[in-house]
Amino acid sequence: MSSPGNQLTARPAWKALAAHHERIRDAHLRTLFAQDPERGTRMTAEAAGVFLDYSKNRITDETLRLLVHLAEECGLRARIEAMFNGEKINVTENRAVLHVALRAPKDSSIVVDGVNVVPRVHAVLDKMADFSNRVRSGAWKGHTGKRIRHIVNIGIGGSDLGPVMAYEALKHYSDRGMTFRFVSNIDGTDFAEAVRDLNPAETLFIVSSKTFTTLETMTNAHSARDWSLKGLGGAQAAVAKHFVAVSTNAAEVRQFGIDLANMFEFWDWVGGRYSMDSAIGLSTMLAVGPEQFHQMLAGFRRMDEHFRTAPFDRNLPVLLGLLTVWYNNFFGAQTVAVLPYEQYLKRFPAYLQQLTMESNGKSVMLNGTKVGYETSPIYWGEPGTNGQHSFYQLIHQGTKLIPCDFIAFARTLNPLGRHHDLLLANMFAQGEALAFGKTSEEVRAEGSPDWLVPHRTFEGNRPSNTVLLGRLTPESLGRLIALYEHSVFTQGVIWGVDSFDQWGVELGKVLSQRIIPELESQAEPQLGHDSSTNALIRRYRAWKQK
Ligand code: F6P
Repeated sequence: MSSPGNQLTARPAWKALAAHHERIRDAHLRTLFAQDPERGTRMTAEAAGVFLDYSKNRITDETLRLLVHLAEECGLRARIEAMFNGEKINVTENRAVLHVALRAPKDSSIVVDGVNVVPRVHAVLDKMADFSNRVRSGAWKGHTGKRIRHIVNIGIGGSDLGPVMAYEALKHYSDRGMTFRFVSNIDGTDFAEAVRDLNPAETLFIVSSKTFTTLETMTNAHSARDWSLKGLGGAQAAVAKHFVAVSTNAAEVRQFGIDLANMFEFWDWVGGRYSMDSAIGLSTMLAVGPEQFHQMLAGFRRMDEHFRTAPFDRNLPVLLGLLTVWYNNFFGAQTVAVLPYEQYLKRFPAYLQQLTMESNGKSVMLNGTKVGYETSPIYWGEPGTNGQHSFYQLIHQGTKLIPCDFIAFARTLNPLGRHHDLLLANMFAQGEALAFGKTSEEVRAEGSPDWLVPHRTFEGNRPSNTVLLGRLTPESLGRLIALYEHSVFTQGVIWGVDSFDQWGVELGKVLSQRIIPELESQAEPQLGHDSSTNALIRRYRAWKQK
């Protein structure tokens, strides 16, 4: 008898997929392509300006049909509606999940606890735009009357990864007369290196924290205030000109000493990892300006509408999510490699790591029972072509199955000789090599001696998706991010987990609070940890004195 935690595996669609997997798991992509000359054009989907080629996956039409069935059996359609309608689908925190409201049209209505939140979203966007315009134009002056030239965002997790990813992605559109830095780590090196060449009189700090209590962010914010005041002659009034806050917690912001007029609000229904298009994106807006920021929101919205309305078998986020489930749960793949062939997306894999793994790295279902199947795979990656000269060896010839997402733009922002054609040629070649490999006969025919043949043979049958967009713009970046946000949602619905809480980060935070005084006390502390932790603390205390 299946336990409640195995409800998913007891579903007819799941069972059908398991049986189907038995039948097709050894089918080679070479054969699948040979049997169907149209496969490469048929197994594609295009929507919201995104072209997805999913033909190089180890699937047949039947696989897709069954995966779509699974999504239907799991109630994906109703869950999408529940999210868009502001229902409290984050059950463990009793919160709505409304990042989609952050990009909702001004005249729309999404009600949470009896209040239409859309006007609030737009009021904050307007306040951000006004502030950004003043800083960018030089109308906003620092304490000594100088204009602000350097922006330092202090935040961590969702209050850092989204902003830094977006800044890097949209650098082409940014004001090159300004410097943008991102401080996240509690390691003092992060702060020290970020400000070492900055003039306090020209530096504005954005303290970004949903809770405004996060140890790393508040420690860095206090160091920033000390640095700022020291550089500006110690006048407390300087804080008002050099610090703004992005938070849901007005009381803590005021307590820190930031005027609430300089606070940009967001709400508990915006998850940290889904917040880069909220006020948490203030650094993005300062970099690229309000108009481009609104373009980015329009891109998000376009993908939201597609996700909400398109049939599942042509729905890009749903397809991506279901394919992830297919490899994760039926092939036992442990990871997904995200490989942008776009230098500006160099922080995209890091951003996706929080989005995917903090969302779906769960082992109990919504009702608290243990899952009886795998949940989130590990996401990782680096931009191409760099990765080709490092870890691709393992993807091609290692013992692990690693589904890959290749991402690229057809038109480069930096046309330079043949570079872009060479870049894209490499990406297409990798997908081809992974799928089709090179048989031992082919290797032998090329004249390899027998002993070398096994080393030079590529099994192939290694799956990939290719995501192609036209050009990297704020708008297309919005579409790309929303594509992954909704893919993560799709996966979470199938696995029946709460994709919007993150209780797993709590224990380490609590334990560190206990250890901090033990490291700092002058007298030898009474240590009540396990023998390993006790010994490490003693060793640290001994060595830090030297
Ligand atoms: O520790 C995890 C986490 O809560 C993330 O979910 C969040 O993005 C990050 O910390 C930062 O939190 P805050 O914005 O409240 O400082």
